[in-house]
Amino acid sequence: MLEPLAHVGRDPATGGYVRDAWSSADLELREWFAGEARRRGLALREDRNGNLWGWWGDPSPRRPGVVTGSHLDSVRQGGAYDGPLGVVSAFAALDLLRARGLTPAVPVGVACFTDEEGARFGVPCMGSRLLTGLLDPERALSLKDDDGDTLADVMTRAGREPHAAGRDDETLAMIGTFVELHVEQGRALVTEGRPVGVAGAIWPHGRWRFDFRGRADHAGTTRLADRDDPMLPFARMVLAARELAARHGVVATVGKVRVSPGNANAIPGLVSAWLDARGADERAVRALVADLTAEAAADVREESWTPVVDFDAALRDRLARTAGGDTPAPILATGAGHDAGILATAGVPSAMVFVRNPTGVSHSPDEYAEQADCEAGVEALANVLEDLCR
Ligand code: GLV
Ligand code: MN
Ligand code: MN
Ligand code: MN
Repeated sequence: MLEPLAHVGRDPATGGYVRDAWSSADLELREWFAGEARRRGLALREDRNGNLWGWWGDPSPRRPGVVTGSHLDSVRQGGAYDGPLGVVSAFAALDLLRARGLTPAVPVGVACFTDEEGARFGVPCMGSRLLTGLLDPERALSLKDDDGDTLADVMTRAGREPHAAGRDDETLAMIGTFVELHVEQGRALVTEGRPVGVAGAIWPHGRWRFDFRGRADHAGTTRLADRDDPMLPFARMVLAARELAARHGVVATVGKVRVSPGNANAIPGLVSAWLDARGADERAVRALVADLTAEAAADVREESWTPVVDFDAALRDRLARTAGGDTPAPILATGAGHDAGILATAGVPSAMVFVRNPTGVSHSPDEYAEQADCEAGVEALANVLEDLCR
C-alpha cells in the first residue's frame, strides 16, 4: 500500500523523502488520501486546520468515533514509514474489519494530521496543536518558512482559508478515542523479539532557536583581532549542549543551522541554530536549556514545548492485551513526538501501536519495517479497533 506513494517527494540521489506541509508533494499525498477514502465509500472531510478525516459511519458529539491514523508529511530526507505507515495501516485495518463482517457500534474514522514534523515552519504537530487549541492560530499563521512565506501564505496558495484555523471543538467532539500506529524509532522491539509494541509515555521535548549575532566582514582583509564572528560562540554552544546533555541525563541535538549571509569568503553576520532537547525528566530538560542559555552569547527563543505524555493506563493495558496475542505487547516509552500525544494532552483518550523497525533508525532513509511486521501491526490495530468500537 505504500508503493503508490514511493515516488512522491523522493530525492533520487539519497532515497530520502522531502514532504513539507502544503508543498506539491504534500498536496499529492492529500489527493491520494482522498482517493483511498472515496474508494472505500468513507465520508471525506478536511477540517479548518487542514487535517483530513475519512468516516465509516456518521459521528456526532453524542456518538463520537474510534479514530486511527497518522501523518503523511516528512522530515527532510526522511524515511518512507514515519507517518505513512500509520495512515496506510489505518485503511488496511478498516478493510480487515469489513472483511470480518464487523458492524461497528460507533463510527470508525481514518485521520491524516497536517504538518506533524514541523519541517517547514519549525513547530511540530501543527495540525493537532491547532485543532486542540494548544497553539495560538495567530502565531501559527505568521510562522515563516526558509523562503519567507508564512503558513497563511502557503495555505492561501493551496486554496485554503487560513483565518479559519484554530481550536475546533466540533471536530474534536467527533473523536471518542484515537489510536495511532507508528514505525518504531528505536530498537526496543528488536531487543524484545516482538513485532508490535504499545506506547507508555512520550518524553517531554522542545525546540529552541539560538541567534548568534556578529559583524559580517571580508574573510581576507579582516585581521583576526578585529573580528566579531558569531560562528565561534555557535561552535561552543554545540559542544556545550553535548556536555550538558550528558551531565543532565537527557538528549540534545543541533540539527539545523542557518548562516547569514552564507558566503565562503565572508565572516557571517548571523548564525541561527535550532536546539532540540528531550528527556524522561522535564526538570532535567529545562535545566539543560537554562544552563545553555546562560552560557551562550545568543538571543534564545522557545519555538515549541510538549510536556510529558503519560498515555491513559487502562487504555494502554487494554491495547497491550489486544495487540499482543498470547502475551501482552511490550509497553515502551519514546523520545519521539506524535499527534496522539497532543490529543492525549488535550484530554482525548489516545494510544499508540509501534511496529518493529529492524534498523532502529528513523528520520533517515534507513528507517524500515518488514512486510510481515507491518501485517502484524495491521492485525493488532484491527483487533484494537474491533475491541474499542464494540
Ligand atoms: C517528530 O517525529 C519528532 O518527534 O521530532
Ligand atoms: Mn517523525
Ligand atoms: Mn511520525
Ligand atoms: Mn513524530
